[in-house]
Amino acid sequence: MIAKNAEAAIIAKGLAKTYDKEIEALKGLDLEMRKGEVFTLLGPNGAGKTTFLRILCTQLMPSKGDATILGDSVVNNPTAVRENIAMVPQDAMAYSNFTPWDYAYSFCLLRGMDKPTAKKKAEEAIKAMLMWEMKDRPAQSMSGGEKRRMLIAATIASDAPVMMLDEPTSGLDAIGRRNVWSNLRERAAQGKTIILTTHMMDEAEMVSDRLGIINKGELVTIGTTAEIKSKVPFKYRVIAPESAIDQSSYSEVTKIGDRLVVYLKDYQEAVQLVSEMLKKGVQAEASPVTLEDAFVRLAGGDIDEIGQEAQK
Ligand SMILES: Nc1ncnc2c1ncn2[C@@H]1O[C@H](COP(=O)(O)OP(=O)(O)O)[C@@H](O)[C@H]1O
Ligand SMILES: [Mg+2]
Repeated sequence: MIAKNAEAAIIAKGLAKTYDKEIEALKGLDLEMRKGEVFTLLGPNGAGKTTFLRILCTQLMPSKGDATILGDSVVNNPTAVRENIAMVPQDAMAYSNFTPWDYAYSFCLLRGMDKPTAKKKAEEAIKAMLMWEMKDRPAQSMSGGEKRRMLIAATIASDAPVMMLDEPTSGLDAIGRRNVWSNLRERAAQGKTIILTTHMMDEAEMVSDRLGIINKGELVTIGTTAEIKSKVPFKYRVIAPESAIDQSSYSEVTKIGDRLVVYLKDYQEAVQLVSEMLKKGVQAEASPVTLEDAFVRLAGGDIDEIGQEAQK
């Protein structure tokens, strides 16, 4: 039994999933998501993000543990859970002859809205996804990004108190991504709880109130971007050619090809290193540590895997 918590929208306790008796996709996750926040699950491919969301949206039973959504258990009361959630799955296929209007409007009717309310919500959501001009275009004539935005519009139109989006911005261009982010933030400001997944650090940093980093089915850390960054003992990074730096002078250095990323405690140290480089006639760049730096360190240095993620 999971105790109710007024501020919590979702409470997962010991959530585990093993596929085919051997693939441990989730190894017992404890996680709490609050009402009215944008919470991002961040992790590389195969981390267990989709598995976690599929359990929350009652498509998949956990092997162990349980989660509640607004007090209802996904294991014992999935029907009640479904009343409160709307979901954009990772690999959702759009019906080829459905239009954005068909999707958003019928989704609202299915959720029990009367026709005038359904019309209003569908119109709002389609406009919010910048699709009003193409509201009557069938999915078969749309690009991948347009189909994705159509499915997001339907979920937003649903007006569900908890919305879950599995990699919602994959395949979207920069403008589409920013528009999705700002819409999710607006909905959270209206009191909706938004759960999304991504493997993109910049997205997690931009859109989340809090985030949970997961790797190999385990929670690595949880908090705001600033809290997570503060868990690493460095504030700045300087990127410079390997040949120009005496590595033995620095405690934390990452090699990326012929370049080094040197991690430094404070701004003074960063400025000092950059000016040394300039004196040598070498280009060097200082910036605050990123979420990616924190992730690499906290996740135990799966740099190859994360490097590949960053290139996608
Ligand atoms: N239906 C399935 N059957 C067997 N293994 C699966 C299935 N779905 C996912 N997995 C495995 O579980 C792990 C986590 O997958 P997933 O939750 O999709 O990760 P993510 O969404 O973070 O990329 C991966 O190792 C994946 O190969
Ligand atoms: Mg996934």
